[in-house]
Amino acid sequence: MRITDTADLWWKNAVVYCLDVQTYMDWNGDGVGDLEGLAQRLDHLADLGVTCLWLMPFYPTAGVDDGYDITDYYGVDPRLGSLGDLVEVIRTAKDRGMRVIADLVVNHTSDQHPWFRSARASTDSPYRDFYVWRGDEPPDTSDQVVFPDQEDSIWERTEETGEWYLHKFYKTQPDLNVANPLVRDEIAKVMGYWLQLGLDGFRVDAVPFLLETAGIDEAEAARFPDPHEYLHALRAFLGRRTGAGVLLGEVNLPYEEQVRFFGGGDGDELTMQFDFTTMQQTYLSLARADAGPLAASLAARPEISPDSQWGTFVRNHDELTLDKLSDDERAEVFAAFGPDEAMQVYDRGLIRRLPPMMAGDPRRVRMVYSLLFSLPGTPVLFYGEEIGMGEDLSAGSRLAVRTPMQWTSGPNGGFSDAPADQLTRPVVAGGYAPEFVNVADQRRDPDSLLAFMKLLIRRYRECPELGWGGFQLLDQPHPAVLAHLCTWDDGALVAVHNLGAEPLSVPFTVPGCNAGHRLEDLLTIGSTPLADDGSVELALEGYGYRWLRVVSEDSRRLL
Ligand code: GLC
Repeated sequence: MRITDTADLWWKNAVVYCLDVQTYMDWNGDGVGDLEGLAQRLDHLADLGVTCLWLMPFYPTAGVDDGYDITDYYGVDPRLGSLGDLVEVIRTAKDRGMRVIADLVVNHTSDQHPWFRSARASTDSPYRDFYVWRGDEPPDTSDQVVFPDQEDSIWERTEETGEWYLHKFYKTQPDLNVANPLVRDEIAKVMGYWLQLGLDGFRVDAVPFLLETAGIDEAEAARFPDPHEYLHALRAFLGRRTGAGVLLGEVNLPYEEQVRFFGGGDGDELTMQFDFTTMQQTYLSLARADAGPLAASLAARPEISPDSQWGTFVRNHDELTLDKLSDDERAEVFAAFGPDEAMQVYDRGLIRRLPPMMAGDPRRVRMVYSLLFSLPGTPVLFYGEEIGMGEDLSAGSRLAVRTPMQWTSGPNGGFSDAPADQLTRPVVAGGYAPEFVNVADQRRDPDSLLAFMKLLIRRYRECPELGWGGFQLLDQPHPAVLAHLCTWDDGALVAVHNLGAEPLSVPFTVPGCNAGHRLEDLLTIGSTPLADDGSVELALEGYGYRWLRVVSEDSRRLL
């Protein structure tokens, strides 16, 4: 195994951790998390084993879409601190071995952004063409809105000029006109600025929407015939400014279409993309205690360039979208994990976190994270997952999972010294309240979820075959079980997961192995010999999981 390669294409086996500064740690006691607070918690993240922080938008914002409605691309929201504080965070993170990426939200600005204020005022504004306008009455577009509970059209009329502007998200988020070369120059300048301040790349928001030209008038769109050429140009620009930079794209599309966003076999567009398909099939598999859908999804993943990578996840900051399932499949997942209407949103997703969905069963929660870290790809965690935080259903919609990080069992979960009613968001109450779920207690408990997550992360990092290697499903007789093999050169790892509650004995054969090989457990102590034909039979508890390194007699890898 060429271990030195892993320091080059670092994103292939990174551990990414997404957080929102405003809900992470409040250091100045005003009830809002801040960059100074985050700096104080970088050691927690380094100790966890995170190698790349993803900061949700920290820019000045109109505050309608939790920072995804930006009013200034070159600043820091003053509630969170200053540019200087951000640089301190980036520098300290780097010292602890962590890279930092941030959201790049350039499909739209806020309607309060100076460009849009100017653009809406008059058709002669120099910024008018930064946005997409139409003069005639738009047709019914209610089936195209992203947030169907809030919007019923992707066009909004302004009083000033009587024309309509395009907005695929909230009406306060007018879409930028990416066909306009001036807009593209501005986007590059924004990227260059943050890279110069030390970021290692971006999580690129809503990429398919950014590249879409529907709605843009024909003459304008003709100036921009191939949106993928533009994505390619952005990646090339990133590479010129910082060789190790990445673009982690949000592209919730079927695999066939995602391939194009990687730049096909050349791998010269998005460096990484989230695997929304496997995430959704994982929940279907969990609901059915049948690994079939997950296995089929992994097998259907298209070939990508060796430089590209999938980002795997079981939760993110948005709704847990199930939009790629059929209506019946989605209904199954809803019934299993979010039967109340208050747990669902947009007719397509759940607003819960994993542990409450697993009815708090620690075996099941650990099995899911074991699965996540053993799947081929780069795992992406959402803050609080490492301790098993729950959600606040009363916050509603996507805010349900964006509650303050729970550091201690004390007031406000140690997030802030401010009076509870002044917090940016209320702390979770009930069974998942800080009294029961917090970092400080779990740090001292070797049996905690936090300790388990650290172990998973350490092993994931020690097994680059997971991020780099080839993937193969292993035949075995139980529908509830996923058995898979990841290989990279002479490194090989077998992972076996039982999605069902019944203990099982799992027979399978490790290809290319014989009695000269054995399987060494990596999450516990244990060693199992293989038969001469490479076969073996392993015991699995209900919701059990095992990671096993394939070891040959002459192996020199550290166990
Ligand atoms: C992406 C983000 C989401 C945001 C939207 C609009 O989908 O993940 O949080 O609201 O883009 O920027």
